[in-house]
Amino acid sequence: MSEHILVSQENRILKLQLNRPEKKNALTAEMYSKLAEELEQANTDPQTRVILLTGSGDSFSSGNDLNDFLQNPPQDGSSPVFRFLKAISTCEKPIVAAVNGIAIGIGTTMLLHCDLVYASETALFQLPFVNLALVPEAAASYLLPQKLGYQKAAELIYLSKKFGAAEAKELGLVNDSFTADALQDNGLRVATELSQKAPEALRLSKMLLKRGAAQVVAETMQTEGELFRQRLGSPEAQEVMQAFMQKRQPDFSKFS
Ligand code: COA
Repeated sequence: MSEHILVSQENRILKLQLNRPEKKNALTAEMYSKLAEELEQANTDPQTRVILLTGSGDSFSSGNDLNDFLQNPPQDGSSPVFRFLKAISTCEKPIVAAVNGIAIGIGTTMLLHCDLVYASETALFQLPFVNLALVPEAAASYLLPQKLGYQKAAELIYLSKKFGAAEAKELGLVNDSFTADALQDNGLRVATELSQKAPEALRLSKMLLKRGAAQVVAETMQTEGELFRQRLGSPEAQEVMQAFMQKRQPDFSKFS
């Protein structure tokens, strides 16, 4: 088992906990692979009716591990990050997310594929793709304008504007917010409630709610994935990654 993903199963709830608190639960290729594997297995495991996703320490996830991305960039559509995105976006069983702190980049966009999202009042969200000289992933370029309207999506993506739990709730990105202490209990309570419902009715209902957008989500992810891979190798993105490691601001003045 990957030490950075804690997996437990109790009362038909599969709990997946991002567990790299010293790096704010930044996601590596190894972590994406483990998450993908667990989500894929959950579809056919009769012991799993609901998935509960959360983080460790004071963060949900600070997004892609920027060092890992430099050293181990995704090569093609079967790379761990894309396998994870496919698995979470096509998971047949309900996913409850308990967002216990910062949720940056894919830490926010993966929530678009969770069914019920609860956040701690201290949670902070950000989509810093343009700041990183990258492009959105996880079909966020389709789902966010659709959900929030174009102007709000543009503000969050082009300006990489940070927002808190109250705004996330207002925007419909989270269902509700709780004190940090009450968050995990609430996530478990909701997951337990779902786990006691008729499982097939729940799976079919999820399929029906998602089916209108399923094809465009898959196509968008593919287009985003191709551009994302190209961007990672771009001089603009290389400047960002070097600046991050050297703990300085990136300088885009030389690019046209
Ligand atoms: N990739 C790699 N390492 C990361 C990381 C990431 N996405 N996010 C945090 N870390 C590391 C930091 O480098 C630091 O490592 P160190 O202790 O070896 O120096 C450690 O996690 C703690 O982070 P730190 O920056 O000291 O904590 P903070 O509370 O001051 O700030 C963040 C937290 C998340 C706001 C800040 O780390 C950050 O902006 N990270 C990058 C987020 C990002 O751009 N993600 C990519 C999205 S596509």
